[in-house]
Amino acid sequence: MATTSLHELDEKYIGNTYHRFPFDVAKAKGAWIQDTKGKKYLDLVSGIAVLPLGHSHPDVVKAVQHQSAKYMHLSNYFADENQIALARLLTENTFADKVFYANSGAEATEVAIKLARRWAIKNRNRKAHEIICMENSFHGRTMGALSLTGQVRFHAGITPMMGGVKVVPYNNIPAVKAAISRKTAAVIVEPIQCEGGVNIPQIDFMTQLKNLCKKYDILLIADEIQTGIGRTGRFLACEHSLITPDIALLGKSLGGGLPLSAVLTTDAVAGAFGYGDHGTTMGGNPVSCAAGLACVSHIIKKKLIREAASLGDSFKDALYALKKKHPAISGIRNLGLIIAFDFEHAEALVEECLANGLIINKVQQGTIRLLPPFTLSPAELKQAMAILDKALKKVTPKEF
Ligand SMILES: Cc1ncc(COP(=O)(O)O)c(C=O)c1O
Repeated sequence: MATTSLHELDEKYIGNTYHRFPFDVAKAKGAWIQDTKGKKYLDLVSGIAVLPLGHSHPDVVKAVQHQSAKYMHLSNYFADENQIALARLLTENTFADKVFYANSGAEATEVAIKLARRWAIKNRNRKAHEIICMENSFHGRTMGALSLTGQVRFHAGITPMMGGVKVVPYNNIPAVKAAISRKTAAVIVEPIQCEGGVNIPQIDFMTQLKNLCKKYDILLIADEIQTGIGRTGRFLACEHSLITPDIALLGKSLGGGLPLSAVLTTDAVAGAFGYGDHGTTMGGNPVSCAAGLACVSHIIKKKLIREAASLGDSFKDALYALKKKHPAISGIRNLGLIIAFDFEHAEALVEECLANGLIINKVQQGTIRLLPPFTLSPAELKQAMAILDKALKKVTPKEF
């Protein structure tokens, strides 16, 4: 009797909002995923920037096993050792004094919206509720987070969005300045727009933004959900501009592979929330926090943030070398291990790489994004570039 494939069952039972890869996974370890037929794939997407240590790192696995045997969930009626230890680590390594946990990036954005509005209404004036966001941004899929996401395609069919939002062009200080009024509570920005096409702003954009926020007494919210925890070569990407935001959002890598996000802020801003003003049943789950603590501690102890910066340089050099052979690729850019290049036939390239055992990712129309684990070896980098070279040869049109 023929067995039903995982893909057939997936189609039958799972809501159809995802485009799946055409193979079923048997296991994953380090930078490698193996399918049920034994084929191996080198993974340069890391669960969309969730796995800085690669798949199933032993420290993370051990922490999850230990904590889940102890207890998995108590609720936020209880103080939790791992929650506290991770929050302590995050505050010791950033500007922040306080941490509010959540489960996903979108939820962290929701917390930031509420916190910024409460702070501004209390500290500025009763009408200060507006948030300025950027064109091409991405802050998550819940209604508030989507309202701050400056890509109208995400709003199709679900309007009206949340009010009190002004959208301005990214990397444009005069536009931000023109949008500020008595009603402004905060500006939300990604230090690099990752889903929006890996847009890296001019070097002083974040500094000028901070100065503007300071001048008008409005909060700067840095969405570091993709850039945070060292991926850009600094713990927070804001550090490249030598600035501190008032609120920073973390997610993705924070849980080392388990769902966890956090809102980092100062004591002064955190004070806008009092007892009962915010809550979440699962946010800061003990097992997720144990995994996150193991992951972030390992990154710091083994100095992997420095590693991310130098591996990022190696990727850039390798891509420039590849460009000499393949002039059809352009716009090579990176900050640490957020790496991108433009290629018109991005979709065909993703498919061809997949056929040859390499997982890469397309964002927007013609941009390839690479988000490798910090632990990728030089041999694996070489292997990835050899597959990319072969795939580019195959999918580049003849006129090149
Ligand atoms: C910058 C940024 N903010 C927010 C989110 C939303 O995170 P999540 O999918 O965990 O809700 C993402 C996810 O890609 C992101 O890249």
